[in-house]
Amino acid sequence: MNKKMLITGLLVFIPMSFTQAQSDSVSQLLADYSTQGATTADAEQGKILWQKTFDGKGEFSRRSCTSCHTRNLAKTGKHVKTNKEIKPMAPVVNPQRLTNIKKIKKWFKRNCKWTIGRECTAQEKANILVYINNQSGYQE
Ligand code: HEC
Repeated sequence: MNKKMLITGLLVFIPMSFTQAQSDSVSQLLADYSTQGATTADAEQGKILWQKTFDGKGEFSRRSCTSCHTRNLAKTGKHVKTNKEIKPMAPVVNPQRLTNIKKIKKWFKRNCKWTIGRECTAQEKANILVYINNQSGYQE
């Protein structure tokens, strides 16, 4: 490798390694949410909502996204009702995550309804999407 190639390579590689990878699906969804009124996505707000507990009816009187997905997005979760394993949410450990728009939409709808008792707003979804997407491994 000559010197010029090496320098060009570094100039391309270094900025990339600092930028969080974002799938086309995430970009597309964020664009959709902004047309639905969401402003810039806020990962910190996403985290707060992810960890917040809501009142529910019946056996599951306390509900949270973490009930099934855990607080650590790099870890395997467990469905509170079926006890089935749920693969980690963080794309960095589970590259399948946040790659399929239909799947993301379906589960946002279902899980927001079950957990919060209503659908999430475009802003809430944008915040959570960025929060999940930005996980860089073990996090508490
Ligand atoms: C009762 C259990 C349960 C709760 C609570 C729950 N989820 Fe899920 N979630 C699932 C299951 C099951 C799947 C689909 C299986 C899988 O993808 O591994 C899933 C998948 C998802 C996906 C799809 C991600 C992808 O790209 O594959 C998103 C996004 C998601 N959940 C967000 C949320 C949010 C946000 C909350 C809280 C508002 C939440 N979930 C609460 C069980 C739950």
